Amino acid sequence: MGTYAVTGSASGMGAASAETLAAAGHTVIGVDLHDADIIADLGTAGGREQAAEEILTRCGGTLDGVAAIAGVGPNLPDAAAVMSINYFGPVHLLELLRPALAAADAGRAVAIGSNAATTVPLIDDRLVELALAGEEEAAREHARAAAEAMPAELRELAPSISAYASSKFALARWIRRTAVTPEWARQGVLLNAIAPGAVLTPLMLGSTGEAGDPDRFPTPMPLGVFGEPADIAFWVHQFLKPEARFTTGAILYVDGGTDAAMRPDGTPTAMSLG
Ligand code: NAI
Repeated sequence: MGTYAVTGSASGMGAASAETLAAAGHTVIGVDLHDADIIADLGTAGGREQAAEEILTRCGGTLDGVAAIAGVGPNLPDAAAVMSINYFGPVHLLELLRPALAAADAGRAVAIGSNAATTVPLIDDRLVELALAGEEEAAREHARAAAEAMPAELRELAPSISAYASSKFALARWIRRTAVTPEWARQGVLLNAIAPGAVLTPLMLGSTGEAGDPDRFPTPMPLGVFGEPADIAFWVHQFLKPEARFTTGAILYVDGGTDAAMRPDGTPTAMSLG
């Protein structure tokens, strides 16, 4: 049995993933702002360093897997915090934990992105560029200014929608770029992401507590149902298994078909010779 760190373990997909791993007999180290083994704010560099240090102490320097699930939604008014929590949170923590994953026989990491990266037409290229360059302060400033410049109606609807989609877009790109580097791939540490669609968690349900009719949801829901946290936990578990040994750099849509419905020909994209 292995030892796995799960961020966002107090709620939603993180809680379901922690439960699934524990039910399979593994030791789970939960990290969250509250109700977790390790209380840490993954929206700050200091919080991530503290979390990593405590995880390393608890696992003795060898970690079988990390599920980086903690995150916030597009309704959070602070776009800078959205970037710090959703992009820099998982990236920085995974970087800090990579040596402990490399020390395991079959280190595995999975992060939770979102299909918002490909279905929300508000990706801010400069913000993605700053994130991938590791410029957290500049990314925060840019995200805040860009959110303030958004049309008032959009700001009222989802104040951080562009930062949210951009944070998940940058995360997916970081996963693909990083997974194939020797530091990860040749150390046997596999790095993948899941891109969920609408999943019934406190984040999605917000203050209303109700999701309504899937067929009236703003994005198409071909399967006619919303996801449950367990639908994501299932795939988190698969990606973390030692047997999942030939997949790295994958972004798996677990979204009831939304991305395929909105962009049927978006993937695959052909490689050109030019
Ligand atoms: P949730 O709100 O139920 O759980 C998120 C957890 O992350 C909470 O326990 C929260 O305390 C923790 N968290 C938030 N900020 C944190 C911080 N600064 N430091 C440490 N922990 C922090 O939400 P849900 O839906 O389970 O979200 C999990 C992930 O899935 C997030 O990354 C979210 O962006 C993503 N997602 C959610 C979708 C949905 O429809 N629910 C759709 C696509 C992606």
